[in-house]
Amino acid sequence: MRTIKWENGVVVTIDQTKLPAETVYLELKTCREVAEALKTMKIRGAPLIGAAAAYALALTAYHSKAESKTQLLDELWNSAEILRKTRPTAVNLFWAVDRVLNKARESEGSVAETIRTVIEEAERIADEDAEANRKMGFFGAALLHDGDTVLTHCNAGSLATVEYGTALGVIRAAWEQGKKVKVIATETRPLLQGARLTAYELKRDGIPVRLITDSMVGYVMFNGLVDKVVVGADRIVQDAVFNKIGTYTIAVLAKTHGVPFYVAAPTSTFDLTRRARDVEIEQRKPEEVLYCGSRRVAPVDVEVLNPAFDATPMEYVTAVICEKGVFPPSKLQTL
Ligand code: MRU
Repeated sequence: MRTIKWENGVVVTIDQTKLPAETVYLELKTCREVAEALKTMKIRGAPLIGAAAAYALALTAYHSKAESKTQLLDELWNSAEILRKTRPTAVNLFWAVDRVLNKARESEGSVAETIRTVIEEAERIADEDAEANRKMGFFGAALLHDGDTVLTHCNAGSLATVEYGTALGVIRAAWEQGKKVKVIATETRPLLQGARLTAYELKRDGIPVRLITDSMVGYVMFNGLVDKVVVGADRIVQDAVFNKIGTYTIAVLAKTHGVPFYVAAPTSTFDLTRRARDVEIEQRKPEEVLYCGSRRVAPVDVEVLNPAFDATPMEYVTAVICEKGVFPPSKLQTL
């Protein structure tokens, strides 16, 4: 299943805030519409955010009335600025925007040719993501054994990517190879990507899944119910892996209980010139914590902290699975 598609000047994708109750397709026609979908998390998950940002620039190019290349580049630059302000932590967004802008700048042809170049580059980014996930699945599946129970956090499935998924891609590949793996998925408060999206994807594929609240991770580790952890990532820097809030807690528990902790992410998520202290963690609105669904659960006037991601220091990471293979953290720089 492809999560995002380009259809003659329209970006078609699923509204992830409506899943699993309803499958609603969005037809986005402008960069601003894509930016709004990113901010409101109708589109989410680092690799999908990157592909969507590339397609948003393709929309700007496709609908442009620019008469010169300079004018077209200005329009793309303005769109890029809008996109860069949507979500600060997933590096795939900045990577994809820069890649498309560079392609447009380097294009030596007419305005029409540059427009075509931009659209082709966005398509290439999406196709490469789908391919990287399949490769990651192949490499990562070798780490999972028949009968293993794998714990995952948030949603790093096909919905978070263009196709197949990163962490769920690894689990999916093992399952497709005939290994009878089972999954424990954390619900992932506050936005419940685990309960809503991961449980939905795994049920759809017939892979056994049990859902737990985030605070049950200690229980399942202590009781020996987890053989491996596989999570995705929003940004991998020299000294840490940024992923959904709660990942660090899981990594510490995994180390304490001798459970391997794997991170599955394409190299488009790598940002190895930076360190953890250089990365902005997105802070989201208090309402996400104050409410459970549409019901307010907290008293009035209570203060809230709502960081969307945390940083897991590399010492807790057993290995990173990417489209080039499986690497211990110490070997990432060689990539
Ligand atoms: O806030 P989200 O839903 O965009 O966060 C998603 C995650 O943290 C995922 O684990 C990460 O992007 C990897 S997805 C392949």
